[in-house]
Amino acid sequence: MKGIQGKNVLVTGGSSGIGQQIAIKFAEYGANVAINYYRNREEAEETEEALQVCRQKVQQQGVDDLLVQADVSKKADVDRMFDTVLEAWGRLDFLINNAGIQIAADSHELDVEKFTRVISTNTIGAFMCAQRAIQHFLAEDKPGAIVNVSSVHQVIPKPRFVGYTVSKGGMQNLTRTLALEYAGRNIRVNGIGPGATITPINRAWIDDPEKREMVVSHIPMGRAGEAEEMAEVTAFLCSDLSAYITGQTIFVDGGLTLYPDFRTAWSSE
Ligand code: NAI
Repeated sequence: MKGIQGKNVLVTGGSSGIGQQIAIKFAEYGANVAINYYRNREEAEETEEALQVCRQKVQQQGVDDLLVQADVSKKADVDRMFDTVLEAWGRLDFLINNAGIQIAADSHELDVEKFTRVISTNTIGAFMCAQRAIQHFLAEDKPGAIVNVSSVHQVIPKPRFVGYTVSKGGMQNLTRTLALEYAGRNIRVNGIGPGATITPINRAWIDDPEKREMVVSHIPMGRAGEAEEMAEVTAFLCSDLSAYITGQTIFVDGGLTLYPDFRTAWSSE
């Protein structure tokens, strides 16, 4: 894809799911890839395995790779991550803010600490990373691109996931505001809005045929998305093919944001 080869990209939450596929996709297009991973105690083993798979696939493409541990919700970690990448490579061209979590609970019972944790990871983490990337692009006087991995829940409410919807709604204005602020300085900021995608975040339904059927029945195109489909659009938004696009979120959702309940004309017949 034009404009990706030889560039340096940092992907947060790159060890699994959509982030893993994004890291591999950029490597396939010839970019050097810094893979951020976050290891909490519960998922240490799973993360390690996924991380090694990701690293191997990136290395197979003959590009440089870098593993950088960081909790994106912590400013000191974000600074250490950027310092490590810039020290190693001297230059960063693209940032992919992919790291994200969700916590389910009835809103009236949701622990505020959990609400804060989701916002700190999904929105504040993305902001802190974007801030460091933009500082670098400006200091180098070089073009740069940022892609925020948002969600269809940027615009669709999701009961019992209020932290998640607030975080992704915030991401929409993070994308739009930064895009407007830096449009004149060769920095583009866009987002992708995945629909239901087959990744570990959806372990609750992907391996349960009945639940999966129920999920798929709501998707106009009749299937869940693949992480690779999210990765391809992310790469497009960093490439020269999208040189005149900024401030947009492209929904990659099989039509989920098209109000599927209106497939039939029930409202007027
Ligand atoms: P996933 O659970 O496989 O990936 C999330 C990644 O974020 C993991 O690698 C995890 O280690 C990392 N992460 C979590 N907290 C972190 C922290 N504090 N610091 C650094 N990394 C952290 O799930 P998936 O699906 O790949 O999610 C990736 C992004 O896509 C998320 O932002 C999610 O909200 C978004 N998304 C996913 C959808 C889906 O259906 N899978 C739909 C819409 C959006």
